[in-house]
Amino acid sequence: MHRRLIAPGALAAASLLLAVPASAAAYQPGAPGIGDPYYPYYGNGGYDVSHYDLRLKYQPRTDELEGTATVLATTTQDLSRFDLDFLLDVSEVRVNGAKAAFATSGQHELEITPAAPLRKGTPVTVVVRYRGVPSTKSAYGFTTWHRTPDGAVAADEPEAAWWWFPSNDHPSDKATYDVSVTVPDGTQAISNGTLQSTSSRLGWTRYTWRSRAPQATYLATLAIGRFDVTTGRSEGGVPVVNAYSRNLGDNDGAARASVERTGELVDWLTGYFGPYPFDSVGGYVPDTTTGYALETQTRVYYSPRQFANGSNTSVVVHELAHQWYGDDVSLKGWRDIWINEGFARYAQWLWSEHEGEGTTQELADYVYASHPADDPFWTVAPGDPGPDNQFDIAVYDRGALAVQALRNEVGDDAFFAILKGWPKEHAYGNASVADFRAYAEKVSGKPLDALFDTWLFQPSKPAVSAARTVSLARTSATVPQPKSWKEIAATNGVHGG
Ligand code: TRP
Ligand code: ZN
Repeated sequence: MHRRLIAPGALAAASLLLAVPASAAAYQPGAPGIGDPYYPYYGNGGYDVSHYDLRLKYQPRTDELEGTATVLATTTQDLSRFDLDFLLDVSEVRVNGAKAAFATSGQHELEITPAAPLRKGTPVTVVVRYRGVPSTKSAYGFTTWHRTPDGAVAADEPEAAWWWFPSNDHPSDKATYDVSVTVPDGTQAISNGTLQSTSSRLGWTRYTWRSRAPQATYLATLAIGRFDVTTGRSEGGVPVVNAYSRNLGDNDGAARASVERTGELVDWLTGYFGPYPFDSVGGYVPDTTTGYALETQTRVYYSPRQFANGSNTSVVVHELAHQWYGDDVSLKGWRDIWINEGFARYAQWLWSEHEGEGTTQELADYVYASHPADDPFWTVAPGDPGPDNQFDIAVYDRGALAVQALRNEVGDDAFFAILKGWPKEHAYGNASVADFRAYAEKVSGKPLDALFDTWLFQPSKPAVSAARTVSLARTSATVPQPKSWKEIAATNGVHGG
């Protein structure tokens, strides 16, 4: 606006001064949040990250983490200042090589003021030197950094990054990663993607990992501990890297009997979802006391407790399904969580059917019948559950029921075309529930407004007539529990504490 008033000659002269703004007033601070209504301060405004390079050192004995993060980004507005989300202690920040001023604000904002303001659409290199004891840091009164007897783990949703690297912490800004971590000899550092190299010197070993495909910040993981690492290749050709804590005790056998089937299960899922989108796959089981699993990209996090009742291939199927539904195609906003959890749960239903432990239809009928109309279960709308119910059991079970309703409405041919086509349609990108509906309508040629509204958005139990319309076979309360039910439900350790 301002610049248009400048004569062409003056404009050419001014552009020679590149970093010097024509009018400082045009340069504004980036917003402290990316604009997600569920989490107003998550992520930041004004730039888009393309790559994180993390060079770290960790001492398990003291929980001290130190290192340098180099963040490559492009500005999306004229910026006088911008934020990263971070909790550790920063000693220096450089922007495009020059020392920048910095301060902390809010719960997890690192405010960076570059020496010269940044023009919209330009590449920016941000170097952050830091150290700290992650277990001593909290935001909103909680921490998601898990110390273990032999190290620590960063794996949580929707927030895990603040405790180990500065980021634009929102799934809508995906980036590639190089994570290089030095740990005492005898200890391993596990992260996403492929292990590029290891090297030892003076009692310390450096592990360097590369995640080549765009990855959401909450899907970046770091585990330090004493692990037994196994490697292999699936029949379909996907390289597999798994890691087991050496302290799994009597869960060790069941953990391996489940996670060692990763290659087989990822190949099985390609039959439904199309080619596996990444260049590595696997899981790790650290010595944590948590109860959940998480779909950390290419390297799934499993809690030992998930194998306390013996092997559980269902949870492996769930987390691997997320590699397509959640990781390859990530949500645009946290309200779109149904695309992650509804489909990962549905994959468990498909596995149940494959294993002869209950068909998807039987599981859907059971979910419908086992929750009476006055069960608060039905007040949660999987299509927009709200931040407090983002991981409510209804997002999973009612979410998968909605997938079965969709299948029955459009028929198997269109349904399986949608299931396989979706990851291709939005490969390595982001999409919303509305995008999914539009895609399902395009592929099936059917209007699906009413179906989505009934099964995903109404805060009430769909009427028997609606259930019959989508062929839920049995709507009475006496539907028998499918054999797979308990194993499937055990995936949700997050609900059991
Ligand atoms: N996305 C995880 C899964 O279904 C579950 C989950 C929800 C979770 N909230 C979490 C995991 C918090 C870890 C922390 O596989
Ligand atoms: Zn899940």
